[in-house]
Amino acid sequence: MVHGLMKTYNPLPVQFSHGQGVRLWDTQGREYLDALGGIAVCALGHAHPEVIAAITEQASKLLHTSNVFEITNQIGLAESLTRVSGMDALYCANSGAEANEAAFKLARLYGHQKGIETPHIVVMEKSFHGRTLACLSASGSRKVQAGFEPLVQGFVRCAYNDLHALEMILQHDHQVVAVMVEPIQGEGGVLIPADDYLIKVRQLCDQYNCLMILDEVQTGVGRTGTFYAYQHYPIVPDILTSAKALANGIPIGACLTHGPASDLFHPGNHGSTFGGNPLATYVAQTVIHIIERDQLCARAAYLGERMLSALRQQLADAPHVLNVRGKGLMIGIEMDKPCREILHLGLKHGVLFSITADQVIRMLPPYIISDQEADEIVSRVVRCIHEFQ
Ligand SMILES: Cc1ncc(COP(=O)(O)O)c(C=O)c1O
Repeated sequence: MVHGLMKTYNPLPVQFSHGQGVRLWDTQGREYLDALGGIAVCALGHAHPEVIAAITEQASKLLHTSNVFEITNQIGLAESLTRVSGMDALYCANSGAEANEAAFKLARLYGHQKGIETPHIVVMEKSFHGRTLACLSASGSRKVQAGFEPLVQGFVRCAYNDLHALEMILQHDHQVVAVMVEPIQGEGGVLIPADDYLIKVRQLCDQYNCLMILDEVQTGVGRTGTFYAYQHYPIVPDILTSAKALANGIPIGACLTHGPASDLFHPGNHGSTFGGNPLATYVAQTVIHIIERDQLCARAAYLGERMLSALRQQLADAPHVLNVRGKGLMIGIEMDKPCREILHLGLKHGVLFSITADQVIRMLPPYIISDQEADEIVSRVVRCIHEFQ
């Protein structure tokens, strides 16, 4: 019988005591380059002085009051997040999964308003939207769902990056009220759709009167070179979800709406005890301010190009490498076989990354790294791959 922690994870045998910028130190005093950034969370690196100052300043004033009262910092975050995103309204949650739950509820309200009693939401194969029951039901991964049936109903599965398949569903299923996609599938293996995919999904959503929901939990907050990944294209979604890097490690989730979707929730429809508390919303405002002031979206785009071209060059003849791809600082190296073992080589060579979809080495480093640090990450990862049997 398990005593202590439940076995939800299978962590690597290393514990970290502190960090600074892109560096982490383990409890034995060994130093690592953190190319994972807490899975796309620590975009400003570890121990960023202004993030520390924001946390301590707010913690010494006020941590929590509840949504029974107006929260100044939540109103401030709505102002800055709607400005940088081009969206209209904000609901504050505590995680990516919770932000997506809000999105599903909005889509269902929208459907009911149109007189559709059993609304359907189109979701993609290989997608990942989180671990709550609705989110795992929406996710396109049997591994995430297995054992938790019955699943939440109302999700219709479609192949990712397949506009014809999407159009077929929209033509035939008149219960569809929303289409939900990740601009790049992160957990699915850093899968990047065709350049016109999101634009065409937007057109189809308009044509069939359904909401376009973008899950930008992983791609958002500067990661791909624009504040939100959809801003690479001339479109705006109806609903957008964000979390991870938004407060650089303080838990927060955001569900943003544009247009009519902003008027769907009414008092009593939805809520959360912690959602949008003064601490998380203050730190998120600070993160947005730093990203804008230091032009870190452009920096992420530049660093991503630099790392991708170095990786492609240095891995040109590497064994087992099928493909190197990415956008901004969301980078995947697809291998020709499952490669979890390579994580141990990463520990040996002092570089941290993750394996996703069994055989994709994924890097999500902070945007504050120097060119030299980016180059050093690349050379350590290349060393690991050359040693991998
Ligand atoms: C695209 C996407 N959506 C949702 C989630 C779930 O976010 P959280 O773990 O904060 O609930 C994740 C987490 O990896 C994600 O990558």
